[in-house]
Amino acid sequence: MEQYIIKGGNPLVGEVEIGGAKNAALAILSAAIMTDETVLIDNLPDVNDINVLLEAISGIGASVQRVDRHTVRINGSGVGSMSIEYEYIKKIRASYYLLGALLGKYHKAEVALPGGCNIGSRPIDQHLKGFRALGADVEIEHGKIVAEAEKLRGTHLYFDVVSVGATINVMMAAAMAEGTTILENVAKEPHVVDVANFLNSMGANIKGAGTDVIKIRGVEKLHKSEYSIIPDQIEAGTFMFAAAATKGDVTVLNVIPKHLEATIAKLQEIGCEVEEFDDAVRVVAKRRLKSTHVKTLPYPGYPTDMQPQIGVTLALAQGTSIITESIFENRFKYLDELARMGANVKIEGNSATIQGVEKLSGARVSAPDLRAGAALCIAGLATDGITIVDDIVYIQRGYERFEEKLRSLGAVIERVSSEKEIQKFKLKVG
Ligand code: UD1
Repeated sequence: MEQYIIKGGNPLVGEVEIGGAKNAALAILSAAIMTDETVLIDNLPDVNDINVLLEAISGIGASVQRVDRHTVRINGSGVGSMSIEYEYIKKIRASYYLLGALLGKYHKAEVALPGGCNIGSRPIDQHLKGFRALGADVEIEHGKIVAEAEKLRGTHLYFDVVSVGATINVMMAAAMAEGTTILENVAKEPHVVDVANFLNSMGANIKGAGTDVIKIRGVEKLHKSEYSIIPDQIEAGTFMFAAAATKGDVTVLNVIPKHLEATIAKLQEIGCEVEEFDDAVRVVAKRRLKSTHVKTLPYPGYPTDMQPQIGVTLALAQGTSIITESIFENRFKYLDELARMGANVKIEGNSATIQGVEKLSGARVSAPDLRAGAALCIAGLATDGITIVDDIVYIQRGYERFEEKLRSLGAVIERVSSEKEIQKFKLKVG
C-alpha cells in the first residue's frame, strides 16, 4: 500500500498545467462505442478510473488503442457483449454510463448494479426512470440491471432530483431513440455540456445542454469524430485551494475560468486575490484567510467535489465557518482525520462547524475518498510538521501525477510504500 509523506510549511508557488476532466472523460469514452466508426479522443487524463473504464470497454469487444498518454482511439464495431461485470462497477461506478450507451445503440444492456460508496448511498433510480420512459424494460436481476427495448421512443421526462449521472445516461440513450426527447430539471455541469457536444460531434442532435431543459432529436446512426475533453475544474480547484491554504501564489493553466466561478467567488470571499486570464487563473494568498459559510449545490452552485478542499482551508482561517453538504450524506469523514491534525470541528447532520485554528500539526491520516484524500494532502502542505496520508489509491483514481505537480510548485511530498522509505524521508527533511 502506498502513502504520501509530506513535509509542510512551504507556500506553493508557480504554474501548474491542468488535465482533461475525468468525469467528462468517463461518459465520453462510454459514448464513443455508440458508433461503428473510429473516434479519437484527446486531453484524456491518465488516471486509474479512466484506465479501468478502457479495460471494461475493450472487455466487451471494442478496440481501444492508446495513441499516447492523453489520446485514445476507440472503435466500437466489434462490441459483442452487452454485459458489464461487477468487477468493473466495483472499481468504478461510472462504468454505468455503458448502460445508456449500449441501450441507445444496441437496445440491450446488462450492467452490474453499483452499490453505495464512501460518500453516500447513491441511488440510480433516476437513470432507470429515464430508460423506462424511453420504452425500455428495466429489471434488477442477480445484482444486475438488465435493460432491453425493441425500440427506444422519444419521451418527455422530468427528473425528480438534479443528477449529473442520470442526465448524461438518459441523454446518451435518447440520442439514438426514435423521435424527440425532452429532459427537464437536468444537471447543468460543464461535463454534461461536454458530453452533449461530443455526441453532437458524432452526429447527434442535442440542444440545451447547460440549461435546465435538454431537447434531443434522436438519430439512427452516429459517426466518427475527433474530440478534445474540457479541462478538469475539480483538479484546477484543488490546486487553487492548495495555493490558498499554504499562503502561496499559483497559476492554474489550461482551464476554463467560467467553470470555476463558484470556487473563485469563495476564494475571494475568504481573502485571496484571484486573477482571471483567458485560459488560466492565478490565486494569491498573502495573509491569514477569513471564515465563510458554504453550501454545496448542483452547478453553477459550489461543487460537492470541492467541499473537502475548502474545508481544510477553513480549518486554518480566522473565525467560524459552516459547511452544509446538500448532495451526499457522508462527505465529512475527512473532518475526523483533520481533527487528528488539530482542527476544531463539529459535525451535526449535513452541517459542519469549523472554528479556525492558527496551526495544524502533522499526523498520520487516511484518505477516505478521492477528493477528501487530496484535501488532506493540502492540510499536510499547510502544516509545519510531517503528515502521512494513507490509502492514496483513492487519490490516484482521479489526479494525474499529483505529487509531481505539487513538487513543481515547491511542495515537499513523496510517494512511499514502506516504513523504511518513511524513515528515509524523515531523515532527509530533518
Ligand atoms: C457526479 C460526479 C461526482 C459528483 C456528483 C455531484 C461523475 C462520474 N461523478 O456523480 O464526482 O460528486 O456528480 O456533482 O461525474 N441521485 C438520486 N437518484 C439518482 C441519481 C442521483 O437520488 O438516480 C441523488 C444522489 O444521491 C445525490 C444527487 O442525486 O444526492 C446528485 O447525484 P449525481 O449528480 O447523480 O451524482 P453522480 O452523477 O453519481
